[in-house]
Amino acid sequence: MRIIGTGSAHPKRTLTNDELSKMMDTNDAWIRERTGICTRQVITDEHLEDLAAEAAQQALDDAGIEGKQIDYIICSNVVNEYVTPSLASIVEGKIEALCPCVDLNAACTGFIYAIDFAEALLQTDRATNILVMAAEEPTRMVNWDDRSTCVLFGDGAGAMVVTKGDDLKAIKVSSKSNLDVLHYKRLLEPSPFITKEEEHKPLYMAGQEVFKTAVTSSLRDLLSVLDEAGLNKEDISYYILHQANFRINDFIRNRFGVDTEKFPINVNKYGNSSSASVPMLLDELNRTGRLKKGDMLAFSAFGAGFTSGACIVEWNK
Ligand code: COA
Repeated sequence: MRIIGTGSAHPKRTLTNDELSKMMDTNDAWIRERTGICTRQVITDEHLEDLAAEAAQQALDDAGIEGKQIDYIICSNVVNEYVTPSLASIVEGKIEALCPCVDLNAACTGFIYAIDFAEALLQTDRATNILVMAAEEPTRMVNWDDRSTCVLFGDGAGAMVVTKGDDLKAIKVSSKSNLDVLHYKRLLEPSPFITKEEEHKPLYMAGQEVFKTAVTSSLRDLLSVLDEAGLNKEDISYYILHQANFRINDFIRNRFGVDTEKFPINVNKYGNSSSASVPMLLDELNRTGRLKKGDMLAFSAFGAGFTSGACIVEWNK
């Protein structure tokens, strides 16, 4: 694959740590020190599908193509207002595309999984221009009375258009079932046949366990793709990591012994926007002119499952 365009969209409402400290027993210093998060953008009157379509349209414009030239849409998403149809299908209509559409849910790792699927479609000549995107509203999953999780998240969407090319140098995705550390259970419609007890459970996260697993899996995945691509840590221009917690990313950066400039961060502004965080950061780097032809980009993400994944892509836009 080759990346030919990127885009992103954020809800308009900024929620600061100080505002949170008026809603619950928390404070700016605790959140900043533990996570690096200062503000996050949260959905208010917007609909996620509109943000997703906005990010998609930006990616199309950046690629210089129209929706009708897209022949597959893959959207990573955990929750949105529609259980069905897929978010990808809704975006399809909004950008005037007409092509196969599918959502995938690999939690915060979803964008890396979407890249894996896109590469397979391109390699088997099933598609030429694919919209690979992620749109998430984790603020609709958290318990706003649970200060240990609700302060961490923000909403948003990120997208890229990929076409045929030779720029994906290595990719690895994995999953090891573990509901205990991270899960969210929705309440379904009642049926006359249900005999089991049901309860709605907002997002549950065992923070320290997740932290440890995140660091371990991200380090493992990055080393694995570097090895597969025959590259050294220093050969990577930017490590575009899932923006869950500044400390997770800085721990990995320290282990790799590379400069802070190679580990761009925007978790301070957006919090953890689940699988949308990687394409949102990619778009920020693209739009601020920080990427140049030939740059090697390493993506890495982790999330509920427990899933994780990483890949290396050469930037040739
Ligand atoms: N404000 C103030 N205090 C808080 C708080 C908040 N928002 N949330 C928790 N605390 C308190 C706890 O109650 C606890 O108090 P106690 O010592 O009196 O019991 C104390 O702070 C320490 O809590 P702990 O959970 O041990 O903190 P931590 O250092 O592990 O940091 C996380 C918590 C969530 C920030 C951290 O574990 C983390 O980032 N984990 C990874 C999360 C992640 O990446 N998730 C995304 C996966 S995709």
